[in-house]
Amino acid sequence: MKEINRIGVFTSGGDSPGMNAAIRAVVRTALYKNKQVTGIYHGYQGMMDGDFIPMESRSVSNIIQLGGTILKTARCLPFRTVEGRAQAYKNLVEAGIDGLVAIGGDGTFTGAEIFSREYDIPVVCIPGTIDNDLYGTDYTLGYDTATNTVIEAIDKIRDTAASHDRLFFIEVMGRDSGCIALNAGIAGGAEAILLPEKATAIDDLIQHLSKGARQQKSSSIVIVAEGDHNGGAYNVAKRVKEKFSHYDAKVSILGHLQRGGSPSSFDRVLASRMGYAAVNQLIAGNTRIMIGMRGNEICTTPLEEAINNKEYKLSEDMLEIAEVLSL
Ligand code: F6P
Repeated sequence: MKEINRIGVFTSGGDSPGMNAAIRAVVRTALYKNKQVTGIYHGYQGMMDGDFIPMESRSVSNIIQLGGTILKTARCLPFRTVEGRAQAYKNLVEAGIDGLVAIGGDGTFTGAEIFSREYDIPVVCIPGTIDNDLYGTDYTLGYDTATNTVIEAIDKIRDTAASHDRLFFIEVMGRDSGCIALNAGIAGGAEAILLPEKATAIDDLIQHLSKGARQQKSSSIVIVAEGDHNGGAYNVAKRVKEKFSHYDAKVSILGHLQRGGSPSSFDRVLASRMGYAAVNQLIAGNTRIMIGMRGNEICTTPLEEAINNKEYKLSEDMLEIAEVLSL
């Protein structure tokens, strides 16, 4: 086992609240263990461009509460090429970086897995995405904050929906994952929730809303995950209106505001635990693993499994609760 002297840390893919808290934990744990740290800007793009910065304890002062990522982030197509990765490796060697901590989602992990095998460089990953769609952890960084942001929006929309007796379709993020939609939908008391993982026929939705109307519901909120099979909130609203013309229907797309904001206490603590664990795993000689948390215990999962295991993350119980409590 080769001793690691300088750890490179970077964020990649969609940002998420808690990434800064994780960077802080990585830097401070590494320094505590007498390792040096280099920050890599803009994820894999910065690795290819040699966009590096040495990090000290003061480099991460006053960032635990900040959303976004001080190291910036990018989605980098050139890193998918052999030439791109060769350039990145050359830059890492020149900078003396001999171990990596990557913070991001499944795209980030896929890059890390390939790169680490190709060049035998140790990599430990931290799941940072609001989507909560990675296997091997109950929660990803930013998911809790994003869900709370969505709930705040639902609550506000409910005030005006109730005042005007309106039907609202609120679109939330989640191209492939319905975690935010389901959890925020339950917490916000949604009348219906449409998810990418489970197709809902428009006729069934209309029947459900009609049942609510017969039970004297004068306003309703439908949460639509962006990856829902019906093509997003505008399409759903249009098709419902065709058959349900008496309802005054409105659409609200929450969009990227869900990705920003100060991380919740939960995300800050999770990021601190994961950053600390990532450095310790790297120093212990482990590689190609993801740090996760299951049942409040920090754990590790092989990267390959974290990426490829598509075990259904939405529990049947939660789907049932959403349905039973909705009308
Ligand atoms: O961060 C995850 C995610 O928010 C997805 O739910 C969404 O589809 C995607 O990122 C959008 O990312 P971008 O705005 O970077 O294209």
